[in-house]
Amino acid sequence: MRILAIETSCDETSVSILENKKILSNVISSQLFHSEWGGVVPEIASREHLKNIVLVTNKALNKAQVSMNDIEIVAAASEPGLIGALLVGLNYAKAIAVSKNIPFVPVNHIQAHLYSPFIEHNIEFPYLCLIVSGGHTLLVKVDDFFQHTILGTTLDDAAGEAFDKGAKMLGLGYPGGPMIDKLAKTGDKNFHKFPISVTKDNEFDFSFSGIKTALMYYLKKLRDEDKDETFLNDICASYQEAIVKMLFNKTLSAAKEYKIKNIAIAGGVSANSRLKEKFDELNKSGYNVQIPSIQFTMDNAAMIGITAYFRYENSKNKSYFYRESLNHSAKARLDYVNF
Ligand code: KG4
Ligand code: ZN
Repeated sequence: MRILAIETSCDETSVSILENKKILSNVISSQLFHSEWGGVVPEIASREHLKNIVLVTNKALNKAQVSMNDIEIVAAASEPGLIGALLVGLNYAKAIAVSKNIPFVPVNHIQAHLYSPFIEHNIEFPYLCLIVSGGHTLLVKVDDFFQHTILGTTLDDAAGEAFDKGAKMLGLGYPGGPMIDKLAKTGDKNFHKFPISVTKDNEFDFSFSGIKTALMYYLKKLRDEDKDETFLNDICASYQEAIVKMLFNKTLSAAKEYKIKNIAIAGGVSANSRLKEKFDELNKSGYNVQIPSIQFTMDNAAMIGITAYFRYENSKNKSYFYRESLNHSAKARLDYVNF
């Protein structure tokens, strides 16, 4: 089964070719120029996808050494995401499916992050998946394919946003996560204690606004006192430590409460060195933590393709993907009930 998968939910135009679960190519074109505006501009993102989608598809086909004639299934991210951006990939995928009369599999982008650990290894059910990126922060218990429960989500910013907004206050540019990570390497994480908010209604929810506000007041105080030395690396290390602690502590408590030993982490923030270090330590105490390599953990089409494969394989009604699925629309927001 040759699959062509497309991801255009935010600022990555990505196309992947798979032979069943095996990734033959995974081409990702990142729209780095959004940094000029300090964040992703939806309108520009859509236009850029439109410009690149054919080029990226041809590159993915070439890399995989297959032609469009060999494609038997086409898949695309359908929700959640920036609506204009999603429409580009979805429309293109539907056009391919209709013209070739092959199945079209719409894929939920969050589910794709959930199953991304299967690209490189197998992970045993049940497992906990911590999805942390610029757009989402979710802790999910996965019992089987397409059987999952959201244990917690963020009450305010996504984890990546907390890094990006902190970096902006520190004058470090966008995206801020990699810069904070880099500077924190030579900083003292115990230099300043940023508060970790308690989430009263659900202990597995996350909240980053307290940490962010504390940084804002801390920097204001420094300015008011006219301090010359800014201790930038130490501030980065302390700020990062608070975010990582929030993510790590909640995941570990959920693992203990549900007696789950398998943990996966997905999304761009999983590249964070301190987060990796903390979770690596867990591997020494009987847990099995898996973090996909960066090309499969950031937004990418390979994860869309493997999720489409599982969805199609597990479906008892394959004709759905020749008819009803073609009426599937895009959704900007994550539908917490149906996802
Ligand atoms: O999954 P992703 O590539 O894309 C979207 O969210 O669309 O995640 C990007 C996010 C950004 O917020 C970025 O600052 C953060 O991941 N990020 C990091 C690191 N690398 C990327 N955050 C902390 N440490 C990093 N090393
Ligand atoms: Zn994502």
